[in-house]
Amino acid sequence: MKLILDLDTGIDDALALAYALALPQVELIGVGGCFGNVTRDRSVQNNLDLLALFGAPEVPVCPGADHPWGADGYRPGDFKYRVHGENGIGNVLLPAAGGRACETPAARFLVEAARRWGGELAVVATGPLTDLADAIRLDRAAMASVGAISVMGGALTVPGNRTPFAEANICDDPAAAKYVFESGLPVTMVGLDVTLQTKIVGADLARWRQVESPAAAALVGMSEYYYTNESETGEIGGAIHDPLALEAALCPGAFSVLPINLTVETEGPGRGRTIGDPALLGRPEKTTRVCVGVGAAAFVAKFCGAIADWLGRD
Ligand code: BDR
Ligand code: CA
Repeated sequence: MKLILDLDTGIDDALALAYALALPQVELIGVGGCFGNVTRDRSVQNNLDLLALFGAPEVPVCPGADHPWGADGYRPGDFKYRVHGENGIGNVLLPAAGGRACETPAARFLVEAARRWGGELAVVATGPLTDLADAIRLDRAAMASVGAISVMGGALTVPGNRTPFAEANICDDPAAAKYVFESGLPVTMVGLDVTLQTKIVGADLARWRQVESPAAAALVGMSEYYYTNESETGEIGGAIHDPLALEAALCPGAFSVLPINLTVETEGPGRGRTIGDPALLGRPEKTTRVCVGVGAAAFVAKFCGAIADWLGRD
């Protein structure tokens, strides 16, 4: 499967990047870096540095959106720094990559890849949905031809993690998310309903710790930061939100899903809330598959095992 990841890198975004590189059936053809957990420029640089560290510097990194629709700019809030550290990757310091980001904006890259690869391409967005929305706005038909669109974001059956109603990625750009979910394109939503079921703790990293390499050390360092800081209540355990969105693109049959036509509230106390579109309740065709269940322990074991095997390779 050809894959584009659009990331706001972010520790669990970095884990999704590692997971993509670890899976032999995935051909990572490009990575977008957008605002979200960090600024757009930090996200791009994190992607470049991580790809160099992971031995894949040839994968193009495209600059994504640097602010939400309808805003002039963006600054990550304290919540982001608590969960992901000052630099987005748990304050782990990586050597600066020699390479540079490509000129093509992420949305344009998505459209060009969709035109070229159509159903062979999967797109996984794990930050605000701004780049995906921009791509659909640029060429809806091309984006409709993509084989799978999976997004980490939203909370349908559980409370939000940013507000009582809203999940962070959707909250960062509710207008773009609304545009994506109302576009009529088939989208798989991997939100807190399912991602909060998949958490890592220290014991899950035992095999990563046995590998002596800079990549292993960085992944262990980031993950340790993450599983001790993700929860606001001090509970230990980090939800591997973003790798699960990749899993849903790869193995859709592994999830129980609720088909629904979604919208997003863009104002008021429910700003950023993903909710069924009342205007489309009677429509038999449902365009979003909301993931609500997965074999959580099996996924955590598969994810940790795939990365351990990959780290252990020469
Ligand atoms: C999402 O927000 C970010 O903090 C994570 O990277 C993930 O994509 C979880 O709500
Ligand atoms: Ca993310």
